Amino acid sequence: MLNAIEISPKIWWVGGIDWNERSFHGYTTEQGITYNAYLIMDETVTLIDTAKATFTDEFVQRISQIVDPAKIELVVTNHVEMDHSGSLPKIHELAPNARIVASAPAGVNEIRAHYGIEVEGVKTGDSISIGARTLHFVQTPMVHWPDNMVTWCPEDGILFSNDAFGQHYATTKRFDDECDLCEVMKQAKKYYANIVWPYGAQVQKAMAALGGLDIKMIAPSHGVIWRSHIAEILEKYQAWSTYQTEEKAVVVFDSMWHSTEAMAREITDAFIREGVPAKLIDVKHTHISDIMLELCDARYVACGSPTLNSNMMPTMASFLTYMRGLSPNNSQRTGIAFGSYGWAPLGPKQVFTEMENMKFQMASPVIAQQWIPSEENLAALQETVVKAIEDARA
Ligand code: FEO
Repeated sequence: MLNAIEISPKIWWVGGIDWNERSFHGYTTEQGITYNAYLIMDETVTLIDTAKATFTDEFVQRISQIVDPAKIELVVTNHVEMDHSGSLPKIHELAPNARIVASAPAGVNEIRAHYGIEVEGVKTGDSISIGARTLHFVQTPMVHWPDNMVTWCPEDGILFSNDAFGQHYATTKRFDDECDLCEVMKQAKKYYANIVWPYGAQVQKAMAALGGLDIKMIAPSHGVIWRSHIAEILEKYQAWSTYQTEEKAVVVFDSMWHSTEAMAREITDAFIREGVPAKLIDVKHTHISDIMLELCDARYVACGSPTLNSNMMPTMASFLTYMRGLSPNNSQRTGIAFGSYGWAPLGPKQVFTEMENMKFQMASPVIAQQWIPSEENLAALQETVVKAIEDARA
C-alpha cells in the first residue's frame, strides 16, 4: 500500500512519484518528477489538484488510505496541465457530486477542452469555507499556463502554489529540510530556467499578490514542500524573475576540428584570468536544459560554432532556438559570438545574428577565424574579453 503523508494536521500529501521520468517537454529530469496533490480532511473533504493520468492508481490508493474517494466534496484544480489534472476524470467518476473549481475563465475552458467536464470558475479574491478552514484563490496567469492559480489556506499558513516554487525531484522525503538543500535549490533553479523563465513579469505580479501572507509552508505540485527555507526560495524567485545576473561567464561551443574549441578555451581562460568565474560547455555533451541552468544568471554568454554546410552546427542551432523560445531578457547580458570556418564564415555569423536578435549586448562584431586560429588571433580574443568586462562594469 502506498503511503499518504500528513504534512500538517489533517492535510495529507497524496501525490505520485515518477522515479524514472527523464524528460519533461524535452527538459531532462535526471532526478525524476513528483506530481503532488493534497487532501484536506475538513468538514468538506477537499482535494487540491490531482496527478498525471499514468499515476491515477497510485494517487487514488493514497487517498483511499485516508478516506473513501467517494467522500471528496470539493476539488480545487489550480492548473489544468495534464501532469496535475490527468486523474481528474477518475476523481469525477469516483465522486460525481464533488464540486470542482478552477480559475475563470481559462481553467474552466481548459478543463472543458481536455475532459468535457463542466466546472465552476473562481477568481482572485474568491474564497470557499470548508469548515475550520477557508481557502482563498489567487490567479497567477502564465505561471505557467493562462489558467494557473494558487490556493492559500491561512489557518495552516500553507500556500498550495502548483507549478510555482516546484522542482523536478523524485524523493520519498516531502520537505526541503529532509533533503540535500543544494540539490533542491539546483532543481528549483533548473525548473525555473526551463519552465518559468519566460514569465518574469507574471511571477513579479504573483509575488506582489502573495506579499504579506504569513506563509508557513509552500506546497508546490512538484518536488518537496518548502517549510524551512521559504525566505530563500522567495528571494531566489525575486532574483530570477527580475533577470538578475551574477558576475560569471558561460562559453558554449561546438567544434569539428578543434579550431572553434580553441577559441572557446581562450575565451574561457580570459574570463578566468580577469577574475570572472567561467564555465566551458561543449553543446554536444551537455543537454540544452542543463546549459540553461548554468546560463540563466550569467552576466556573460559566449556562443561559438564553425560553419557546417553553410550553416552553424545543428547542435548550436538547437540550443539557440531553445534559448530564444524561453525569451530571456538579455538586455543586461554581454554576448560574444565566435567560430571558425574554411571558406565561408556563415556559421559564426548566424550565431551572432541569433544572439543579437535575443537582445544580448554584443561585445564586438562576430569573431570568425579562417581555418586555424593563430597566436595573434587568440590574443585578440583575450582583448575582446577584457574589453567586454570593462564595458559591462562601466
Ligand atoms: Fe506541472 Fe504546468 O505543469
